[in-house]
This record gives sequence, structure tokens and C-alpha cells, in this order.
Amino acid sequence: MLSAANGLAARWTSLEPGATVDVAAEMTLVTLNVLAVTIFSGGIGGDFDEFRVAMNAYFSVIGRIGMLDLFGVPKFVPRPGYRRLRHTMAYFEAVIDTIIHARYQRLAALATHDGPDDLLTLLLRSLDPSTGRQLSPTEVRSNILTFLSAGHETTANTLAWSIFLLSQVPEWRSLVVEEAQRELSNPRDDLADRLIVTKAVIEETLRLYPPIAALSRAAVDADVLGEIPVKPRSLIVIAPYVLHRHRGLWSRPDAFDPSRFLPEARGRIPRFAYMPFGVGPRTCIGSSFALQEAAIVLAVLTRHFEMQLLPHSEVWPLQRITLRPAKGLPMRLIQRRAL
Ligand code: HEM
Repeated sequence: MLSAANGLAARWTSLEPGATVDVAAEMTLVTLNVLAVTIFSGGIGGDFDEFRVAMNAYFSVIGRIGMLDLFGVPKFVPRPGYRRLRHTMAYFEAVIDTIIHARYQRLAALATHDGPDDLLTLLLRSLDPSTGRQLSPTEVRSNILTFLSAGHETTANTLAWSIFLLSQVPEWRSLVVEEAQRELSNPRDDLADRLIVTKAVIEETLRLYPPIAALSRAAVDADVLGEIPVKPRSLIVIAPYVLHRHRGLWSRPDAFDPSRFLPEARGRIPRFAYMPFGVGPRTCIGSSFALQEAAIVLAVLTRHFEMQLLPHSEVWPLQRITLRPAKGLPMRLIQRRAL
């Protein structure tokens, strides 16, 4: 995480002084880099940019919920956009399958339990606790696709929104810069735990702009919610975006105030008032990973750069699978500190 963040800071340093970048797009790149190294430590081979474009096209079709889904049309009926993007999607699946196959052969050839220390090795070696069997190649591929889709835009949007919010609030920006100077000059192994203010900024960002703004559950059985009867199989939508700004649950709900998440106050937040990662058995498996990553990347970038929103920019949330800035986030980069 630290080296991906430093890599991005180095690239920004090589731009013209005062250059403008779309921070939202840049965050998507850095979170993809982190995932690519975590899943396939040896990289993806081939052209990373081509992979990224194909991946975005893939998820734009796979992740879209359209009329056909709402009316329960079976999955084998191609969704809009599928035909146009068929080749790109096939390319993306083929790249993943090639990496899995090569790794499978590499691990099989090893006499010991050595091998690259990454998520792909873990998936290929893990055994289903109930049957004792290994995952099939299709299951390994599905897991990788899930991690890429669930872990990429969500964390990228968290970072983009936190940078936007800090650009509006100099007091908290100074506190993050101060913490980053202190903790990053000689980073320790427990760096993420030491970025207390930065993590509070991230958690407050997740309150105001939860990347998954609404979750759904289907009722297994008849139930009653408050006074409302629920029929079996009803779809219930729970909206963190609404809960997180609810006047009955939060004081000054629309204000950006990370102090709510500082250690001395954090425990006072009711469990069901704050759920950017969901709750219950299906809660996000990557929440600690995401919080660490977002805190480290935010600290590194804020330490080196003042990121200024362009004058007259309109920043507005748009819910499209994840909650993102509708027109991206064009910002001017002023280098604060040489690398
Ligand atoms: C700030 C970033 C993130 C946010 C806001 C987020 C949010 C969520 C939410 C709301 C859910 C659904 C929980 C539910 O239905 O109760 C979820 C599920 C999931 N997330 Fe995340 N997530 C983030 C980052 C990540 C990362 C980095 C990974 C993996 C690398 C990841 C992997 C997953 C997976 C695999 C699931 C499905 C879990 C299951 O169904 O058992 N997420 N996430």
C-alpha cells in the first residue's frame, strides 16, 4: 500500500508544477495497483493499462442492474452493452484464467509450500472446510473477480471524497499533514494503526459519502419491522446514506467532523447508526484492508501535495453501483514537500 501510494506521489511530482488531475480517476488507479499486487504479487503480465480498461468495461456490464434483472430475466439472456463489449470481456477473463493456470502449474511443480505470498496462492491452496476439496479454477476466478470488483471502486471513492472534504476544511487538513509528517518520515510496521487522525477522517468520509449507499436483503420469512408487516421474499433496502445523515441519530449530521471517530468518541456511535461496511454475517470481508489502505494513501498524498479544488467546480454525488463524484474531481496539485 505504501509503495503504491509513494509511486503515485512520485508520478505526480513529475508533472508540471500546478498540474490539474482528475483525483477520482487517479484514486481508481492506485487502488487497482494495490489489489493487483495483493492478489497477483508478480503483477498481471502483459499490458496493465489494457487490463484496466478491459476490467472497467467488464464491471460496467456485470455490475449494472437493469430492467432485465428487475424483471427476473435469466442471466443467460445477454444484458445491454454485452454484445458491444463481448471481446473486451473475453480478453479480461482470459487474462485472469492465464494467470491462474500458470500459477497452478508453478505451485504444483514445487515440492514445498513455497510460492508467491499472495491471495492467488492462498486461494489455490485453500481447502473447503466442509468437503476438504480445493477450489475449482472457476471458483478461484470468481473469487478474484469479486475481490477486484468489491475492493476497487469502493476504496477509490472513499479516497476521492476524503480528499475533496479535506480540501474544504483547512483545520483537519493541517492535522492530517502533521500526523503524516510525523509517521511517514520513518514508517513503522504498525503505520496504519498510528494514523489515528487520518483514519478518523476516512471514517467520517464513509459516513457522509458511503460508497455503498444502499444495501438490500430479502426476507426469508414473514416478519414485522417496527409496525410494518413484511411478506416472505420481500426486498428490504437499507440505506447507509440516509442512516448516516439521520437527524435522530447524529448531532450536526451534515457537518464534516472527524472528531466523532477519534478513539475517545468512537465507542459512543450506535452500531446500527453507522454501517458503511454493512452488518451481520455478510459484512464486508475487506473492511480492515480498505481502512488501512485509504489511511496510508491519504496520508502519503496529503503529506506531499496540497490538492485544491478548481474554482467553480460543482461536486455532486452520483449513485452508480458506488457513490462517486458525478463529474470526477479535477484538482490542482501544489507540491508541499519534495519527495
Ligand atoms: C471503503 C471500501 C469498502 C466499502 C465501503 C465496502 C463496503 C461493502 C459493503 C457495504 C458490503 C456488503 C455488506 C452487506 O451486505 O452487509 C461489502 C461486501 C464485500 N466486500 Fe467490501 N467494501 C469496501 C472495500 C472492500 C475491499 C478492499 C475488499 C476486498 C479486497 C472488499 C471485499 C468485499 C467482499 C468479498 C464482500 C462480500 C462479502 C460477502 O458477501 O460475504 N470490500 N463491502
